Formats: sequence, C-alpha cells, structure tokens
Amino acid sequence: MTDTAASTQDTPRDIIVTSALPYANGSIHLGHMVEYIQTDIWTRFQRMCGNNAVWVWADDAHGTPIMLRAQKLGIEPQALIDEMKQEHETDFVDFQLSFDNFHTTHSDENRECAELIYQRLKSAGHIATRTIEQLYDSEADMFLPDRFVLGTCPKCGTEEQYGDACENCSATYDATDLENPRSVVTDTTPVKKNSEQYFFKLDNFEAMLKEWTQGEQLQPEISNKLKEWFEDGLQDWDISRNKPYWGFEIPDAPGKYFYVWLDAPIGYMASHKHLLGSDQAEFDRHWNPDSKTELVHFIGKDIAYFHTLFWPAVLEGAGFRKPTAVHCHGFLTVNGQKMSKSRGTFIKARTYLNHLQPEYLRYYYAAKLNNKVEDIDLNLEDFAARVNSDLVGKIVNIASRCAGFITSRFDGTLASALSDESLFAESAAAGKSIAAAYDSREFSRAIREIVAQADKANQYIAEHAPWTLIKEPGNEQQVHEICTLGINLFRNLVIYLKPVLPTIATQTEAFLNNEPYNWADAEAPLLAHAVNKFKPMIKRIESEAIESMVNDSKEDLKSENALTEAATGPLADDPISSEIEFDDFAKIDLRVATIVAADHVKGADKLLQLTLDLGGEQRNVFAGIKSAYDPATLIGRQTVMVANLKPRKMRFGLSEGMVLAAGPGGSDLFVLSPDAGASAGMRVK
Ligand code: MSP
Ligand code: ZN
Repeated sequence: MTDTAASTQDTPRDIIVTSALPYANGSIHLGHMVEYIQTDIWTRFQRMCGNNAVWVWADDAHGTPIMLRAQKLGIEPQALIDEMKQEHETDFVDFQLSFDNFHTTHSDENRECAELIYQRLKSAGHIATRTIEQLYDSEADMFLPDRFVLGTCPKCGTEEQYGDACENCSATYDATDLENPRSVVTDTTPVKKNSEQYFFKLDNFEAMLKEWTQGEQLQPEISNKLKEWFEDGLQDWDISRNKPYWGFEIPDAPGKYFYVWLDAPIGYMASHKHLLGSDQAEFDRHWNPDSKTELVHFIGKDIAYFHTLFWPAVLEGAGFRKPTAVHCHGFLTVNGQKMSKSRGTFIKARTYLNHLQPEYLRYYYAAKLNNKVEDIDLNLEDFAARVNSDLVGKIVNIASRCAGFITSRFDGTLASALSDESLFAESAAAGKSIAAAYDSREFSRAIREIVAQADKANQYIAEHAPWTLIKEPGNEQQVHEICTLGINLFRNLVIYLKPVLPTIATQTEAFLNNEPYNWADAEAPLLAHAVNKFKPMIKRIESEAIESMVNDSKEDLKSENALTEAATGPLADDPISSEIEFDDFAKIDLRVATIVAADHVKGADKLLQLTLDLGGEQRNVFAGIKSAYDPATLIGRQTVMVANLKPRKMRFGLSEGMVLAAGPGGSDLFVLSPDAGASAGMRVK
C-alpha cells in the first residue's frame, strides 16, 4: 500500500471518485450494485483515513433507447428521465451509498461542459467531418443505430446479428454490410442513405495513449487487451447522431446531436461542477492538466474501451487532466449463471431491499471482490451461510458475549485495563495490512483478515469463559478486564468494517458512546468509559426471505411495466407490438407438429435443424433454440409451428416454417407444446 493511505499521513489526498452512470431507462439491479457498493466501500475507506474523497456521478439520460421507451409510454423523455432519476437515487440512498452528488447528463452543466470540450477539440483540429452511408428506417423516419438493426452476418451467415458485430464469428462490420437487414423499430427493411457525420480523430492521440494505457492507472489485464487495438491503428470515432435523437444538439450543426457516449463521461465533470456551484476556481483546480487531485473511475469490463481510449484522449485534447486510475470489475452471476428473469435471479435493487437488509449484500460483495477484472458470483445459499456465520456468528457475537456483564456487573463502565495487552496490540497492528487491502481494492483479503481477527477474539473469550469465572467470588476484576478486552476487540473489528457496514458502525458508536470512528481509532483501546446497554445489531438471514425475493423477481417479470423495467439494452424487454387486424392474424397457419429429428448445425451458433411432422408431410426447419435445448431431448415432442411461412434459403439449407418459443433468450427459451391429445397436423385456432 501507499503510505499515504495510512492513518499517519500528513497531507490528505484530494480524490474525485466516480461510478459508471446508470442508463435512465431501467431500474437498478444487483449487477449494478456490485460496482456501486465497490465504489462506496473504497470511498468511505479513503474518508476514514482523512482523505478528501468526493464521489460524483449521475444518470446517463441520453440516447435512442431512452427516446424510444418514452415514445412507447407516450410520455416526454424528460418525464421518463426525471422519474428514473428519482427511483435510482432512492435505491442508492437505501443501499447506504455515500455519494456527494447524483446528477443527470441532461443538465445545464453537462451541456456547458460538452459544448466547451467540443469547441476546444474542434479548434485544436481533432474533429473531422465525413459523409457516410447509413441505414435509414423510412417508416420510423430515422437513421438506425447499430443495435437497432438485425441481419445476417456477412462473414459466416449467422442470422439475427446486430449491426456492429457477429456473436458467432466475432467479426466486426458496418451495419450496411449486413445481409437482409431489418429495423428493430418497425420490422421493415431499411434503406441506405448518405449523411454527414462528425468524427473525433482518436489517431491524433496514438502516442499519448500507447504510453498511458500501459501505465499504472490501468489493471494489467486491461493494458494487455488494449495492445490489440493499436495493432490495426486507431479508428476515428463517430461522435454525432442524426435527428431524431434525445441528447444535446451540436452547436454549429443543426439536426446533429452528440452521441450519448460523448457526453456521458463528461457527466462526471458536470456532476462535480454542479456540486461546486459557481466556484469556477475550485473546479479549475481539480480539472486543469496539472491538477494534484486524483481522478478515480470505477467501471465494468463492458465499458473499458470508452474509459481507457476515448475518454483520456478527449480530456487531453480539450486541455483537461486525465484519469489517475480506471478500476475495472467483472460481471455478476447469480447461482453460477447469468442473471435470469425467468429463474428469478434478475433481482432489482428494490426487490432485494423489500426482503433483506443492505448490510448483507454489502458484506457479501466485499467478501468476494478483488482488484482483478474477474466475474463474481452471488450464490444465494452461500450468501446466507456466509453472512450468518461471519457477521452474526462471529463478529456481533463478541459484543453480545461481553456487553451483558459490563452493564449488569460493572455499572456500564469499561475497566481501566485490559486482561491481555498483547492481544489488543495484535488487533491494532492488523489495521495496517487491512488498510492496504482496502486501498488497493482487495476487499476479499481485507474481509479475510478481519474475520481472522474475530476468530482470535472468540477463541480468547471461549478460553477465559467470563460466564464461569464470574461464579467464583474474587474474580470480578479479571472478568471486568476480559470483557473490556472483548468489547475493544469488537470495536476494532467494527472500525475495520466501517467502510462496508456503515450502519453497524453507527450503532456501535452509539452503544459505546463514542466519536464517529476514523481508521486511526483502532490504535488505542477505550478504557474506563461509560457505555450503553447493548442491543443486537443484525439478525440472521432466513432462507424464506431469499425465497420470497426470488419469487418476487419472477413476479416483477410478469407485471413488468416499461417504466420500472431493468435496463438490459434495447432488445431485452419486448413491449407488446402495435395492433394488427383480425385478417392479418387469420393469415397465420399454426399447426401442431411432432419433432421427429433434431440435430446441431455445423457452423451455426444458435440454430438447431428440426424435422417436423405435420401428420404425413415433413418440414425442414432451422430454429434458433440451440442455447436452450439439447437436440436429443426434443425428439418425439410435439410443438406448434407456423406452417405457411414462405420458405427461406439460409446458408445451411432451406427453412420451411418456424417453431414457436417464448422467453428472453439464451437458456431461457421455451418451446411451446400442446396438451396431451393433440395430434400432428391439427390446426391451432
Ligand atoms: N451508461 C453507461 C455508462 C456510462 S459511464 C460514462 C452504462 N450504463 S449501465 O447501466 O449499462 O451500466 C452501468 C454500470 O453497471 C457499468 O459499469 C456496467 O458494467 C455495470 N453493470 C451492469 N450490469 C452488470 C452486471 N451484471 N454485473 C456487474 N456490473 C454490471 O454502461
Ligand atoms: Zn459471423
């Protein structure tokens, strides 16, 4: 660890801390909370060491998905983002996040900062304009962003790929290269249309970035990954979007808007500016290129490119300081799998809070997090077991074993000496290594070392059994000193856990009649001091609470209303499509079919080849259900198919129909089956 983080440091560090800005089109879920709890623990720790850590962030309120969601709800984007901001902020406060300002990117400050940065980049020659061909949806009257186009990969022929990259062969391409492109907005075929766009010349920063990305500010895994990007040369970055768009219009370019990812990171600055108010000198002190302030970003691995290439280059080009560190974390899985709405493991922050205390999750994440870009798993059984064993069974237990005697036998006052000085000294000395672990974001190591200290304390108390000693007359002083030691060991554990468990720290401060704790307070014991009656601070997690949380998460899926839906990208949640006439519906010939053969398709990532029997007639169908089914389990099953779909030539052969399945995708895909008694060929009415 750097000695500067130690309690003995002379000059406090000025640190601006940020978390990635959540999109304002969906609810916060436990995946987001990994990052936000990580940021909170680190920031609280820095403050406890006397550093000036200021945490500023915001809602990411711009972009096409927000515009489209508002349209679907029939409300103004402004109303949507206002509502989401309120919801997000309440979730964050209830999870005990200690941020200094939560702003929005759709703010005056952000417009001001974005325009300033753009003007400076432009006058320094870092902006170019070029005319490019883009896909245009004539029905929706809009240019289509990459993620709003689906089509066949031009390299490997896999269907249903987005306009930027193929999930099967990892090829990257332009949306205009897709075969059979289709607009996700209207399900029509888009046309190609020219338009002028504004580009940020990332290439101008190659030398700086080559050095910067290999420095201390990034984790080695990220530095390595970035080397690949330099091999092909850095591409210009398209920072403009055509109207209709929800964002800031580019000052000298009517009808063109800043791409959401240009003004999103600028939102960090804008939030800080909002916090500082009119104090421009203070803002400049932190953001000028020679600033002594540290700028520390916490982000997820999916957005590393934006923060490690574009963002430092934009800052440099516009004459601002660059980040001191970009800390990247992995993704959350629940019970070893991607969060799943149908399994009830896509858990919203609010659903969690309706059933469980925030401390539990804060502790569990801390026990799992390190400073690597690794995914972390929330195993719900392990979660309950770990919290119950460590927090309830080991840590709080120390206080409950000792506090009763202090109140009942010693007039609520701690002894003036400890029964074992060296045990306390050991606990105080452990603070240095634990602090180093927090500072370098090795939270799991911090927790391990804290629990090891708790084990020692419990062992000591068990060996000295004050409850037995007190029965013999003449042992009072010894018991008093043993319990005073126990309380002091507990107090140190709480100090060390304060970044993770702020409420338990506050309750302990009240119980011990003591100052709000700083890191250095663990160095000296509390002696001859009046304390209050002890009240247990935390209850065990009951498995019923977890079960109801999972059940409610399944309910969330059913009753999902677009406003409170969790943000998982533009396609993850299907709203009901527009109305059709009965005649349109009647055209679809749905039939019961028996799956007589099912096989993998060589070279296809998502497809299974099915032979369907329609009561005599057989059809060959390619179905995108490979992620959910082992073909062997499908053979002999009945399902429902669209029998009059025009046959379609695919790279793998002719597909003569379509089977019906429901679900969000991946392993959550369910092929429909008729009840027993139906036979192949029957018409579905
Ligand atoms: N709006 C952008 C960030 C702009 S920052 C200038 C964005 N928003 S997000 O809502 O999709 O994600 C916000 C943060 O949460 C990101 O750092 C992302 O990596 C993180 N996570 C979202 N889902 C996650 C998991 N399932 N697991 C861990 N972190 C995840 O990206
Ligand atoms: Zn491909």
